[in-house]
Amino acid sequence: MSEQAKPNTDTASPDTASSETGSRGTVLVTGAAGYIGSHTCIELLGNGYNVVGVDNFDNSERVVLERIAELAGRPISFVELDIRDTEALRTVVTDHSPTSVIHFAGLKAVGESVEFPEKYWSVNVGGTLSLLDAIAGSDVATFVFSSSCTVYGDPAEVPVTETTPVAPISPYGRTKLAAERAIADHLSTRDCGGFLLRYFNPVGAHSSGRIGEDPVGVPNNLMPFAMQVAVGRRESLAVFGNDYDTADGTCIRDYIHVVDLAQGHVAALQAAQKSSCDVVNLGTGRGSSVLDVVNAASEAVGTPIPYEIVDRRAGDAAVIFADTTKATELLGWQADRTMVDMCRDHWAWQSQNPNGYQ
Ligand code: NAD
Ligand code: UFG
Repeated sequence: MSEQAKPNTDTASPDTASSETGSRGTVLVTGAAGYIGSHTCIELLGNGYNVVGVDNFDNSERVVLERIAELAGRPISFVELDIRDTEALRTVVTDHSPTSVIHFAGLKAVGESVEFPEKYWSVNVGGTLSLLDAIAGSDVATFVFSSSCTVYGDPAEVPVTETTPVAPISPYGRTKLAAERAIADHLSTRDCGGFLLRYFNPVGAHSSGRIGEDPVGVPNNLMPFAMQVAVGRRESLAVFGNDYDTADGTCIRDYIHVVDLAQGHVAALQAAQKSSCDVVNLGTGRGSSVLDVVNAASEAVGTPIPYEIVDRRAGDAAVIFADTTKATELLGWQADRTMVDMCRDHWAWQSQNPNGYQ
């Protein structure tokens, strides 16, 4: 492993004049208690925003709110609700007068979306329409949406740019694309600008290890599964195929540290222009194979993570990673944490919280 770890600086250069006061205005954060939402709340508070969070705790725990306050030094306002409850959302908008929205709330398990597509259309698309309805006529001037590189499906060419054709191959991906289009159409009708951020593979955790990803049940994703093996919750990692056309035969992805991702949202809020709604990839531009990740995670843990090679998983693209030029140009942002950082911080979280938030 040649990458060097970067120092732990989870809150990037907060503007001290405004970081205590929330003078940059209030951001409505949907899905604030979730994995990416919680890390983003900390960055927002540290950069001078107030936050009003909403979540129904479908895939998160209330204790996260206390940990956000502990890490940021001040709390967020919070209302428990389902984003499909438009009236409840409208009340939040009336009571807190947000000037920006970051919309994380949604369902994200690809396999579950194949089994229960209606649930995904209801929450991811119905929930987004409800949110757009609730902010109509409000002072919200900036809207940032959590989309996914899953909208590109299995791209013919890498790196993936924002003009790579979209071709989602799961109900999850189709609902993210439909939500993107609903948001773009909504923003075009009013004096509001924003970004549709297509994330690559978020991993890692706040460097304190106090918040992190806490998947319900058996993890679908590589890093949480590997770390649960390391902490003794599972016996061995199944590596899905080593016969791909890649250097070591395993699939290649663009893993991005969740704190870099969270900081990308702050950059997006600050870069948003009225009446424009751009799609932007958020990744590192670097591809790592499954075995690269297993080796880096083993280094971080200090002992080899046992794994076995099994058959390919249906629907996996062989290689996907981002072209990050547009993010740098439009947001003035780039991810700079390394795979070493990602594994160290994910392990800090997993080892301190072997059973997640339980
Ligand atoms: P997460 O499940 O940790 O967070 C989502 C939050 O939304 C949870 O706290 C959940 O309780 C909440 N929520 C779900 N349904 C809701 C509803 N009806 N009303 C109110 N709250 C609701 O997931 P995450 O990893 O933080 O992902 C956040 C967003 O980023 C999602 O929209 C996801 O599609 C997108 N995304 C995630 C990844 C990833 O790999 N983690 C990759 C690309 C895009
Ligand atoms: N993998 C394994 N074993 C596991 C889990 C994953 O070998 O137990 C492999 C997969 O086959 C793949 C790679 O590790 O080659 C990454 O898999 P993940 O499930 O961690 O991530 P994906 O790239 O498949 O997709 C995830 C989410 C999508 C999201 C995408 C981009 O599932 O919803 O990241 O953010 F869109």
